[in-house]
Amino acid sequence: MLIGKRRGWEIAERLATPEALMLGRRAALGGALAGGAALAAAPAQAQWNLFGSNAASNAPPVVLKPLTAPRLDRYPAGRAISAEADATSYNNYYEFGLSKSVAGAARALPINPWSIEFTGMVEKPRTIGFDDLMKQVTLEERVYRHRCVETWAMTVPWTGFPLSKLVEIAKPTASAKYMVFTTLADPKTMPGLGQRFYPWPYTEGVTMAEAANELAFITVGMYGKTLPPQNGAPLRLTLPWKYGFKSAKSIVKVSFTDKRPVSFWEALQDSEYGFWANVNPTVPHPRWSQATETLLGNDDRVPTQIWNGYGEWVAGMYTGLTKERLFV
Ligand code: MTE
Repeated sequence: MLIGKRRGWEIAERLATPEALMLGRRAALGGALAGGAALAAAPAQAQWNLFGSNAASNAPPVVLKPLTAPRLDRYPAGRAISAEADATSYNNYYEFGLSKSVAGAARALPINPWSIEFTGMVEKPRTIGFDDLMKQVTLEERVYRHRCVETWAMTVPWTGFPLSKLVEIAKPTASAKYMVFTTLADPKTMPGLGQRFYPWPYTEGVTMAEAANELAFITVGMYGKTLPPQNGAPLRLTLPWKYGFKSAKSIVKVSFTDKRPVSFWEALQDSEYGFWANVNPTVPHPRWSQATETLLGNDDRVPTQIWNGYGEWVAGMYTGLTKERLFV
């Protein structure tokens, strides 16, 4: 099994990996071993799928374009911006493998051309090209804290536009209660899709109130450049008060519905991952504490803040929802 040396801030893989995944891996491995040399005989791609790797794709290096926009200081991050090299080399993008080092593999992400489908409860279903979308929005830069459910965290200058603007462009009908994001699932370029026990494609959803919240952001760049593939090019969601898995990468479809969607992680393991996934240091993950976090590039643990420190803007959306698992 290919496992690199863990950097100080990294959570042990056995902790971060959902139980189902471990079972799936064991089953796959057991089956392969039971079948004699089946694993050894499997094509390189299949072995990569089982274990993940740092292997670079054959795609040429990605050239990021400058993308400058005025910085909005309304939401102070209160801590130093993470090193760009860390934020762009330590990633979760399961479509490209289970390793955190997927930047090489993600170079194969086919981002040109790119389009986004608006569907479900919308006035008129349609598909819009990414370049057309860009012409309809005004970009700004926001420095947000990002907190992964695995307890690592970073602070990133994201470039993008409010999610509410995407809602305005998509034109949902009045009966829509949820906004659902589906991300690219391309078997030709994404070896992780070979992990069949995952409920591909990766989807995430928010309520219409959350979609309208001023913090909710569609990101198209970071560190003053277009978004690197491994961080979710060409466009991703950024919801800084929620665990990072809600921030779906490489969005291809936006749909509106009146039924609460079951997202990727919830479908995989609903005892551990739910719909709301708001950050809360006092509600542990079933297998680890959420009380503290480690900033990328630094081994020290620092206290986690409720709503990841964004309560002033978001806590009001959840009053009265006493029966909901708001922090799972
Ligand atoms: N989106 C897709 N399509 N696939 C993924 O595996 N991982 C999520 C989220 N969005 C993921 C995804 C998780 S678990 C986290 S923490 C963040 O992306 C990580 O974003 P980053 O790699 O830019 O730090």
